[in-house]
Amino acid sequence: MANELLKLANITVQYPGRHGKPELVALDDVSLTIYEGETLGLVGESGSGKTTLGQVALSLLQPTSGEIAFAGQPITKHNRRTVMDDMQLIFQDPYESLNPKHTALELVREPLRRSFDLSTATEMATQALAAVGLTPADGEKYPVAFSGGQRQRIGIARAIVGQPKFIVADEPISALDVSIQAQVLSLMMALREQRALTYLFISHDLSKVQAISDRVAVLYFGHLVELGPTAAIFENPLHPYTRELLAAIPSIGKPLIAQQRQTITVGTSWVEVTPGHFVRQ
Ligand SMILES: Nc1ncnc2c1ncn2[C@@H]1O[C@H](COP(=O)(O)OP(=O)(O)OP(=O)(O)O)[C@@H](O)[C@H]1O
Ligand SMILES: [Mg+2]
Repeated sequence: MANELLKLANITVQYPGRHGKPELVALDDVSLTIYEGETLGLVGESGSGKTTLGQVALSLLQPTSGEIAFAGQPITKHNRRTVMDDMQLIFQDPYESLNPKHTALELVREPLRRSFDLSTATEMATQALAAVGLTPADGEKYPVAFSGGQRQRIGIARAIVGQPKFIVADEPISALDVSIQAQVLSLMMALREQRALTYLFISHDLSKVQAISDRVAVLYFGHLVELGPTAAIFENPLHPYTRELLAAIPSIGKPLIAQQRQTITVGTSWVEVTPGHFVRQ
């Protein structure tokens, strides 16, 4: 097994209740390890806590309780900033995440400006644009001049330009035309190989998750209910929720039918059924 890159131990996140409602437990005692070089797919219906888990993984959100270690080092408030240099986020919406007033080159160069002089940053940004298939001439254009898929390439160039080790991609293709989703995914997978990246890939599109993930984790209203090699999860789903999820193919914002939900119990023990395939029973 490869080295552990990110280890989340007993992560709980409680959000304060909105409009006088009680606190909401978005993640409940989630423990999960992500290994160097893998793509871990994270699935679960809308509101199950996927984005919350991605934000905790990137140290953008402080959990209510639990521990996080990166490359064997516990993350503390003292080393958090340095560790975060090795992590990046690919956003869902390439339209909203790019400032329209800057050229592609400026947008990709911007995260480097704190650490590098202008000519080094320009060189690195030009290389990152090339790595995602954009030319120096593209670098001079503004976001409005690009298609959705090209904009997501700019977003990916921004994510990789500082040479991170770990990337959270939160629904990175769901805002794109179906015809270009596969291209963006294959770009992400090529970059993973070339740059030894590790991905947490969050998506409601189970066929895409199946296509690119080495392992899959299933979240059910804040509970990690199943985790295993992709083939095991898709061919032999064990938790009743995973089975419902695979049968229902839900989309963003569409919860499973309430009736189904009531029949699902989370389970209290975490059992390794076959090597690497865990289920809550
Ligand atoms: N800042 C916040 N304050 C209060 N509650 C929040 C906050 N962010 C998220 N939540 C709630 O926490 C739960 C988990 O949200 P999260 O965004 O992690 O789900 P998700 O799995 O990413 O959903 P989606 O598939 O719709 O993106 C939801 O019930 C959501 O309403
Ligand atoms: Mg989300």
